[in-house]
Amino acid sequence: MDLDGKLGETARVDASLSDLARGVIGSEILRIAAEIRAMKAKGAEICNLTVGDFDPAQFPAPAALLDGMRAALAAGQTNYPPSDGVIGLREAVARYYSKHLGLSYPVESVLITGGARPLLYGSYRTVLDPGDAAVYPVPSWNNNHYAYLCGARAVEIPVRADANFFPTPDDLRPHIAMARLILINSPLNPTGTVIDPDVLRKICEMIVEENRRRERAGGKAAWLCYDQVYWQLLFGAGTHHATPPEVCPDVAPYTIILDAASKSFAATGLRVGWAVMPPAARQRMADILGHVGAWAPRPEQVAMAALLDDEPAVTAYLAEMRARVQQRLDRLAAGFAAMRADGYPVEAIAPQGAIYLSVRVAIPNQTNEATRQLLLTRAGLALVPFQAFGLREDSGWFRISVGAVSLAEIDAAFPRLRAALPRR
Ligand SMILES: Cc1ncc(COP(=O)(O)O)c(C=O)c1O
Repeated sequence: MDLDGKLGETARVDASLSDLARGVIGSEILRIAAEIRAMKAKGAEICNLTVGDFDPAQFPAPAALLDGMRAALAAGQTNYPPSDGVIGLREAVARYYSKHLGLSYPVESVLITGGARPLLYGSYRTVLDPGDAAVYPVPSWNNNHYAYLCGARAVEIPVRADANFFPTPDDLRPHIAMARLILINSPLNPTGTVIDPDVLRKICEMIVEENRRRERAGGKAAWLCYDQVYWQLLFGAGTHHATPPEVCPDVAPYTIILDAASKSFAATGLRVGWAVMPPAARQRMADILGHVGAWAPRPEQVAMAALLDDEPAVTAYLAEMRARVQQRLDRLAAGFAAMRADGYPVEAIAPQGAIYLSVRVAIPNQTNEATRQLLLTRAGLALVPFQAFGLREDSGWFRISVGAVSLAEIDAAFPRLRAALPRR
Protein backbone atom coordinates (compact mmCIF):
# COMPACT_ATOMS: atom_id res chain seq x y z
CA MET A 1 0.00 0.00 0.00
CA ASP A 2 1.57 3.28 -1.08
CA LEU A 3 0.67 5.80 1.60
CA ASP A 4 2.49 8.73 0.04
CA GLY A 5 -0.10 11.48 -0.45
CA LYS A 6 -2.61 9.62 1.73
CA LEU A 7 -1.39 10.86 5.12
CA GLY A 8 -3.79 13.71 5.64
CA GLU A 9 -3.77 17.38 4.78
CA THR A 10 -0.90 19.08 6.63
CA ALA A 11 -2.87 21.91 8.24
CA ARG A 12 -5.61 19.56 9.37
CA VAL A 13 -3.23 17.05 10.90
CA ASP A 14 -1.31 19.84 12.61
CA ALA A 15 -4.49 21.36 14.05
CA SER A 16 -5.26 18.05 15.74
CA LEU A 17 -2.02 18.04 17.76
CA SER A 18 -1.38 19.25 21.30
CA ASP A 19 -0.82 22.92 22.07
CA LEU A 20 2.58 21.91 23.46
CA ALA A 21 3.63 20.23 20.21
CA ARG A 22 2.36 23.09 18.08
CA GLY A 23 4.16 25.67 20.21
CA VAL A 24 7.64 24.13 20.04
CA ILE A 25 10.09 26.30 18.18
CA GLY A 26 12.41 24.35 15.92
CA SER A 27 16.15 24.83 15.99
CA GLU A 28 17.25 28.15 14.52
CA ILE A 29 20.65 26.63 13.80
CA LEU A 30 19.14 23.84 11.73
CA ARG A 31 17.23 26.44 9.70
CA ILE A 32 20.49 28.26 8.97
CA ALA A 33 22.16 24.93 8.16
CA ALA A 34 19.48 24.17 5.56
CA GLU A 35 20.08 27.59 3.95
CA ILE A 36 23.82 26.85 3.72
CA ARG A 37 23.21 23.42 2.21
CA ALA A 38 21.04 24.99 -0.49
CA MET A 39 23.72 27.60 -1.31
CA LYS A 40 26.45 24.96 -1.42
CA ALA A 41 24.34 22.83 -3.74
CA LYS A 42 24.36 25.80 -6.14
CA GLY A 43 28.17 25.85 -6.01
CA ALA A 44 28.79 28.67 -3.49
CA GLU A 45 32.07 28.55 -1.53
CA ILE A 46 31.11 28.74 2.14
CA CYS A 47 33.15 28.58 5.29
CA ASN A 48 30.61 26.92 7.55
CA LEU A 49 31.12 27.99 11.14
CA THR A 50 27.59 27.21 12.30
CA VAL A 51 27.19 23.66 13.52
CA GLY A 52 28.18 22.67 17.06
CA ASP A 53 29.36 19.36 15.69
CA PHE A 54 32.48 17.80 14.18
CA ASP A 55 33.48 16.71 10.74
CA PRO A 56 34.90 13.23 11.46
CA ALA A 57 37.53 13.82 8.78
CA GLN A 58 38.86 16.76 10.83
CA PHE A 59 38.01 15.48 14.31
CA PRO A 60 37.81 11.67 14.47
CA ALA A 61 36.44 9.97 17.62
CA PRO A 62 39.05 8.07 19.70
CA ALA A 63 40.18 4.88 17.94
CA ALA A 64 40.07 3.03 21.28
CA LEU A 65 36.40 3.97 21.66
CA LEU A 66 35.51 2.74 18.17
CA ASP A 67 37.50 -0.49 18.65
CA GLY A 68 35.79 -1.00 22.00
CA MET A 69 32.35 -0.59 20.42
CA ARG A 70 33.16 -3.11 17.70
CA ALA A 71 34.44 -5.58 20.32
CA ALA A 72 31.32 -5.05 22.46
CA LEU A 73 29.08 -5.71 19.45
CA ALA A 74 31.06 -8.82 18.55
CA ALA A 75 30.66 -10.01 22.16
CA GLY A 76 26.88 -9.75 21.83
CA GLN A 77 26.32 -6.62 23.93
CA THR A 78 23.08 -5.91 22.07
CA ASN A 79 20.32 -6.20 24.65
CA TYR A 80 18.85 -3.47 26.86
CA PRO A 81 21.35 -1.82 29.15
CA PRO A 82 20.12 -1.10 32.70
CA SER A 83 17.97 2.02 32.28
CA ASP A 84 20.30 4.05 34.49
CA GLY A 85 23.48 2.87 32.76
CA VAL A 86 25.76 -0.17 32.86
CA ILE A 87 27.44 -0.43 36.22
CA GLY A 88 30.94 -0.55 34.67
CA LEU A 89 30.46 2.89 33.11
CA ARG A 90 28.90 4.37 36.24
CA GLU A 91 31.92 3.20 38.22
CA ALA A 92 34.33 4.46 35.55
CA VAL A 93 32.71 7.92 35.61
CA ALA A 94 33.02 8.04 39.41
CA ARG A 95 36.72 7.11 39.14
CA TYR A 96 37.31 9.64 36.34
CA TYR A 97 35.79 12.52 38.29
CA SER A 98 37.68 11.55 41.40
CA LYS A 99 40.96 11.48 39.50
CA HIS A 100 40.52 14.49 37.22
CA LEU A 101 38.18 16.79 39.12
CA GLY A 102 38.90 15.77 42.70
CA LEU A 103 35.18 15.00 43.23
CA SER A 104 34.44 11.65 44.89
CA TYR A 105 30.82 10.74 44.20
CA PRO A 106 29.40 7.34 45.14
CA VAL A 107 28.27 5.20 42.21
CA GLU A 108 24.66 5.78 43.36
CA SER A 109 25.13 9.39 42.23
CA VAL A 110 25.96 8.54 38.60
CA LEU A 111 23.34 8.39 35.85
CA ILE A 112 24.09 7.45 32.24
CA THR A 113 21.95 8.65 29.31
CA GLY A 114 22.03 9.03 25.55
CA GLY A 115 24.18 12.18 25.47
CA ALA A 116 23.69 15.26 27.63
CA ARG A 117 20.32 16.40 26.26
CA PRO A 118 18.21 13.95 28.28
CA LEU A 119 20.04 15.07 31.41
CA LEU A 120 19.22 18.70 30.79
CA TYR A 121 15.60 17.87 30.06
CA GLY A 122 15.63 15.47 33.02
CA SER A 123 16.93 18.22 35.33
CA TYR A 124 14.01 20.46 34.41
CA ARG A 125 11.55 17.58 34.81
CA THR A 126 12.99 16.32 38.08
CA VAL A 127 13.19 19.66 39.87
CA LEU A 128 10.39 21.83 38.51
CA ASP A 129 6.63 21.80 38.78
CA PRO A 130 4.70 23.74 36.12
CA GLY A 131 5.13 27.48 36.69
CA ASP A 132 8.29 27.09 38.79
CA ALA A 133 11.09 29.47 37.87
CA ALA A 134 14.04 28.31 35.78
CA VAL A 135 16.70 31.01 35.91
CA TYR A 136 19.33 31.03 33.18
CA PRO A 137 21.56 33.47 31.35
CA VAL A 138 21.05 34.43 27.73
CA PRO A 139 22.74 33.68 25.47
CA SER A 140 22.78 30.03 26.48
CA TRP A 141 22.05 26.74 24.80
CA ASN A 142 18.45 25.53 24.51
CA ASN A 143 17.27 26.56 27.98
CA ASN A 144 14.44 28.49 26.35
CA HIS A 145 13.24 25.31 24.65
CA TYR A 146 13.49 23.10 27.74
CA ALA A 147 11.74 25.71 29.86
CA TYR A 148 8.93 25.79 27.32
CA LEU A 149 8.64 21.99 27.12
CA CYS A 150 8.46 21.67 30.90
CA GLY A 151 6.04 24.54 31.52
CA ALA A 152 8.65 26.37 33.57
CA ARG A 153 8.56 30.10 34.12
CA ALA A 154 11.63 31.23 32.21
CA VAL A 155 13.59 33.92 34.01
CA GLU A 156 16.26 35.07 31.57
CA ILE A 157 19.31 37.05 32.66
CA PRO A 158 20.91 38.86 29.71
CA VAL A 159 24.68 38.72 30.10
CA ARG A 160 27.36 40.96 28.63
CA ALA A 161 30.80 40.68 27.08
CA ASP A 162 32.31 42.76 29.89
CA ALA A 163 31.27 40.05 32.37
CA ASN A 164 32.68 37.35 30.06
CA PHE A 165 29.06 36.42 29.21
CA PHE A 166 28.32 34.98 32.66
CA PRO A 167 25.82 36.25 35.21
CA THR A 168 27.42 38.08 38.10
CA PRO A 169 26.21 37.45 41.66
CA ASP A 170 24.49 40.87 41.43
CA ASP A 171 22.66 39.78 38.26
CA LEU A 172 21.35 36.69 40.04
CA ARG A 173 20.49 38.24 43.40
CA PRO A 174 17.10 39.76 42.42
CA HIS A 175 15.92 36.32 41.22
CA ILE A 176 17.30 34.00 43.90
CA ALA A 177 14.26 34.08 46.18
CA MET A 178 11.97 32.76 43.43
CA ALA A 179 14.46 30.45 41.67
CA ARG A 180 13.88 26.70 41.73
CA LEU A 181 16.45 25.77 39.10
CA ILE A 182 19.47 27.84 38.12
CA LEU A 183 21.31 26.72 35.01
CA ILE A 184 24.93 27.49 34.28
CA ASN A 185 27.03 26.10 31.45
CA SER A 186 30.81 26.50 31.40
CA PRO A 187 32.70 26.53 29.06
CA LEU A 188 29.70 28.24 27.52
CA ASN A 189 27.92 27.45 24.29
CA PRO A 190 27.68 29.86 22.39
CA THR A 191 30.44 32.18 23.64
CA GLY A 192 33.41 29.89 24.29
CA THR A 193 34.00 31.69 27.60
CA VAL A 194 34.73 30.07 30.99
CA ILE A 195 33.21 31.12 34.31
CA ASP A 196 35.57 32.71 36.83
CA PRO A 197 35.85 30.30 39.80
CA ASP A 198 35.30 33.21 42.18
CA VAL A 199 32.04 34.20 40.45
CA LEU A 200 30.91 30.56 40.54
CA ARG A 201 31.74 30.36 44.24
CA LYS A 202 29.71 33.47 45.04
CA ILE A 203 26.74 32.16 43.07
CA CYS A 204 26.97 28.80 44.86
CA GLU A 205 27.19 30.52 48.25
CA MET A 206 24.07 32.53 47.40
CA ILE A 207 22.22 29.30 46.60
CA VAL A 208 23.38 27.69 49.86
CA GLU A 209 22.33 30.72 51.89
CA GLU A 210 18.94 30.84 50.16
CA ASN A 211 18.39 27.14 50.81
CA ARG A 212 19.20 27.52 54.50
CA ARG A 213 16.51 30.20 54.65
CA ARG A 214 14.06 27.93 52.82
CA GLU A 215 14.84 25.02 55.14
CA ARG A 216 13.87 27.18 58.11
CA ALA A 217 10.76 28.44 56.31
CA GLY A 218 9.81 25.00 54.95
CA GLY A 219 10.17 25.79 51.23
CA LYS A 220 11.57 23.64 48.42
CA ALA A 221 15.26 24.11 47.72
CA ALA A 222 16.77 25.91 44.74
CA TRP A 223 18.85 23.61 42.54
CA LEU A 224 21.88 24.28 40.39
CA CYS A 225 22.26 22.50 37.07
CA TYR A 226 25.88 22.81 35.98
CA ASP A 227 26.48 21.78 32.38
CA GLN A 228 30.14 21.04 31.81
CA VAL A 229 30.06 19.14 28.53
CA TYR A 230 33.05 21.16 27.24
CA TRP A 231 35.18 21.12 30.41
CA GLN A 232 38.00 19.11 28.85
CA LEU A 233 38.43 21.66 26.06
CA LEU A 234 40.12 24.64 27.74
CA PHE A 235 42.47 27.15 26.14
CA GLY A 236 44.67 29.98 27.25
CA ALA A 237 47.15 30.22 30.10
CA GLY A 238 45.46 30.43 33.45
CA THR A 239 42.04 29.22 32.31
CA HIS A 240 40.69 26.92 35.01
CA HIS A 241 37.53 24.85 34.96
CA ALA A 242 35.92 24.96 38.38
CA THR A 243 33.04 22.78 39.59
CA PRO A 244 30.41 23.91 42.11
CA PRO A 245 31.33 21.35 44.83
CA GLU A 246 35.01 22.24 44.43
CA VAL A 247 34.45 25.96 45.10
CA CYS A 248 31.58 25.51 47.59
CA PRO A 249 31.15 21.97 49.00
CA ASP A 250 27.88 22.93 50.72
CA VAL A 251 26.13 23.33 47.35
CA ALA A 252 26.57 19.61 46.53
CA PRO A 253 23.16 18.56 47.98
CA TYR A 254 21.44 20.77 45.38
CA THR A 255 23.73 20.33 42.39
CA ILE A 256 23.37 18.30 39.21
CA ILE A 257 26.51 18.17 37.07
CA LEU A 258 25.97 17.20 33.42
CA ASP A 259 28.58 15.88 31.05
CA ALA A 260 28.98 13.77 27.92
CA ALA A 261 31.45 12.15 25.58
CA SER A 262 29.90 14.16 22.75
CA LYS A 263 32.22 17.15 22.58
CA SER A 264 35.51 16.36 24.33
CA PHE A 265 35.75 13.03 22.52
CA ALA A 266 34.17 14.22 19.23
CA ALA A 267 31.50 11.56 19.74
CA THR A 268 28.29 13.51 19.12
CA GLY A 269 26.69 10.66 17.17
CA LEU A 270 27.58 7.94 19.66
CA ARG A 271 25.25 9.30 22.36
CA VAL A 272 26.85 8.75 25.74
CA GLY A 273 26.23 11.24 28.53
CA TRP A 274 26.47 11.14 32.31
CA ALA A 275 25.51 13.19 35.32
CA VAL A 276 26.35 13.20 39.03
CA MET A 277 23.96 14.42 41.71
CA PRO A 278 22.60 13.42 45.12
CA PRO A 279 21.45 9.76 44.95
CA ALA A 280 17.84 10.61 45.88
CA ALA A 281 17.57 12.97 42.91
CA ARG A 282 19.36 10.53 40.62
CA GLN A 283 16.81 7.83 41.39
CA ARG A 284 13.90 10.10 40.44
CA MET A 285 15.59 11.32 37.28
CA ALA A 286 16.47 7.75 36.30
CA ASP A 287 12.82 6.74 36.71
CA ILE A 288 11.65 9.61 34.48
CA LEU A 289 14.26 9.10 31.79
CA GLY A 290 13.84 5.33 31.90
CA HIS A 291 10.27 5.81 30.68
CA VAL A 292 11.55 8.04 27.89
CA GLY A 293 14.04 5.31 26.90
CA ALA A 294 16.79 7.90 26.91
CA TRP A 295 19.61 5.45 27.66
CA ALA A 296 22.88 5.28 25.79
CA PRO A 297 23.38 2.28 23.47
CA ARG A 298 24.95 -0.63 25.30
CA PRO A 299 28.08 -1.18 23.14
CA GLU A 300 28.91 2.53 23.46
CA GLN A 301 28.57 2.37 27.24
CA VAL A 302 30.84 -0.67 27.53
CA ALA A 303 33.45 0.93 25.26
CA MET A 304 33.23 4.30 27.03
CA ALA A 305 33.88 2.65 30.40
CA ALA A 306 37.06 1.09 29.05
CA LEU A 307 38.17 4.39 27.47
CA LEU A 308 37.72 6.44 30.66
CA ASP A 309 39.92 3.95 32.52
CA ASP A 310 42.58 3.99 29.79
CA GLU A 311 44.50 7.04 30.95
CA PRO A 312 47.27 6.98 28.28
CA ALA A 313 44.66 6.75 25.48
CA VAL A 314 42.56 9.57 26.96
CA THR A 315 45.57 11.82 27.58
CA ALA A 316 46.92 11.34 24.06
CA TYR A 317 43.53 11.81 22.47
CA LEU A 318 42.63 14.97 24.39
CA ALA A 319 46.03 16.56 23.70
CA GLU A 320 45.47 16.09 19.96
CA MET A 321 41.84 17.17 20.14
CA ARG A 322 42.66 20.36 22.04
CA ALA A 323 45.47 21.19 19.64
CA ARG A 324 43.19 20.84 16.62
CA VAL A 325 40.43 22.96 18.13
CA GLN A 326 42.85 25.58 19.40
CA GLN A 327 44.65 25.93 16.06
CA ARG A 328 41.36 26.86 14.42
CA LEU A 329 40.17 29.16 17.20
CA ASP A 330 43.54 30.93 17.33
CA ARG A 331 43.64 31.32 13.53
CA LEU A 332 40.19 32.91 13.58
CA ALA A 333 40.94 35.14 16.58
CA ALA A 334 44.16 36.33 14.91
CA GLY A 335 42.34 37.01 11.63
CA PHE A 336 39.71 39.13 13.37
CA ALA A 337 42.37 40.95 15.43
CA ALA A 338 44.24 41.84 12.21
CA MET A 339 41.02 43.10 10.63
CA ARG A 340 40.26 45.20 13.69
CA ALA A 341 43.75 46.70 13.55
CA ASP A 342 43.06 47.57 9.91
CA GLY A 343 39.90 49.47 10.86
CA TYR A 344 37.17 46.89 10.27
CA PRO A 345 34.23 46.93 12.73
CA VAL A 346 34.97 43.52 14.24
CA GLU A 347 36.16 42.15 17.56
CA ALA A 348 36.68 38.62 18.88
CA ILE A 349 37.12 37.31 22.41
CA ALA A 350 40.30 35.32 22.98
CA PRO A 351 39.52 31.57 23.06
CA GLN A 352 38.93 30.17 26.56
CA GLY A 353 37.07 26.89 26.05
CA ALA A 354 34.67 24.69 24.05
CA ILE A 355 34.73 24.81 20.24
CA TYR A 356 33.38 28.35 19.97
CA LEU A 357 34.57 31.87 19.49
CA SER A 358 32.49 34.99 20.12
CA VAL A 359 32.85 37.56 17.38
CA ARG A 360 31.17 40.93 17.08
CA VAL A 361 30.47 42.48 13.71
CA ALA A 362 29.16 45.94 14.47
CA ILE A 363 27.55 47.54 11.45
CA PRO A 364 25.62 50.62 12.59
CA ASN A 365 21.81 50.51 12.29
CA GLN A 366 21.84 46.94 11.07
CA THR A 367 20.14 43.96 12.72
CA ASN A 368 22.14 40.81 13.45
CA GLU A 369 20.01 38.97 10.94
CA ALA A 370 20.87 41.48 8.20
CA THR A 371 24.57 41.18 9.11
CA ARG A 372 24.31 37.39 9.08
CA GLN A 373 22.82 37.51 5.59
CA LEU A 374 25.51 39.91 4.40
CA LEU A 375 28.31 37.69 5.74
CA LEU A 376 26.76 34.63 4.18
CA THR A 377 25.92 35.98 0.75
CA ARG A 378 28.80 38.44 0.23
CA ALA A 379 31.64 36.74 2.17
CA GLY A 380 30.59 33.08 2.11
CA LEU A 381 30.95 33.06 5.90
CA ALA A 382 28.24 31.27 7.87
CA LEU A 383 27.84 32.27 11.54
CA VAL A 384 25.03 31.93 14.08
CA PRO A 385 23.72 35.10 15.75
CA PHE A 386 23.37 35.10 19.56
CA GLN A 387 19.63 35.50 19.00
CA ALA A 388 19.58 31.75 18.28
CA PHE A 389 20.57 31.33 21.94
CA GLY A 390 17.79 33.42 23.40
CA LEU A 391 19.42 36.86 23.38
CA ARG A 392 17.02 39.54 22.22
CA GLU A 393 19.17 42.63 21.78
CA ASP A 394 20.81 43.23 18.40
CA SER A 395 24.31 43.79 19.71
CA GLY A 396 26.17 42.32 16.76
CA TRP A 397 27.51 39.19 18.52
CA PHE A 398 27.81 35.88 16.67
CA ARG A 399 28.92 32.36 17.52
CA ILE A 400 31.69 30.78 15.51
CA SER A 401 32.00 27.00 15.76
CA VAL A 402 35.14 25.30 14.48
CA GLY A 403 34.28 21.60 14.54
CA ALA A 404 33.65 21.28 10.84
CA VAL A 405 36.28 23.51 9.20
CA SER A 406 39.86 23.11 8.07
CA LEU A 407 42.56 25.75 8.53
CA ALA A 408 42.63 26.19 4.75
CA GLU A 409 38.91 27.05 4.71
CA ILE A 410 39.47 29.62 7.47
CA ASP A 411 42.38 31.18 5.60
CA ALA A 412 40.35 31.38 2.41
CA ALA A 413 37.46 33.13 4.17
CA PHE A 414 39.30 36.21 5.48
CA PRO A 415 40.01 37.91 2.10
CA ARG A 416 36.31 37.47 1.24
CA LEU A 417 35.32 38.95 4.59
CA ARG A 418 37.61 41.94 4.16
CA ALA A 419 36.13 42.58 0.74
CA ALA A 420 32.55 42.36 2.06
CA LEU A 421 32.77 44.60 5.14
CA PRO A 422 33.03 48.38 5.26
CA ARG A 423 35.93 49.93 7.19
CA ARG A 424 35.21 52.32 10.03
C1 LIG B 1 26.10 23.30 26.40
C2 LIG B 1 25.56 22.04 25.82
N1 LIG B 1 24.97 21.16 26.63
C3 LIG B 1 24.47 20.01 26.15
C4 LIG B 1 24.56 19.70 24.81
C5 LIG B 1 23.96 18.41 24.32
O1 LIG B 1 24.95 17.49 24.07
P1 LIG B 1 24.60 16.01 23.55
O2 LIG B 1 24.93 16.00 22.10
O3 LIG B 1 25.50 15.14 24.36
O4 LIG B 1 23.16 15.75 23.80
C6 LIG B 1 25.15 20.60 23.93
C7 LIG B 1 25.18 20.32 22.49
O5 LIG B 1 25.50 21.13 21.66
C8 LIG B 1 25.68 21.80 24.45
O6 LIG B 1 26.27 22.68 23.67
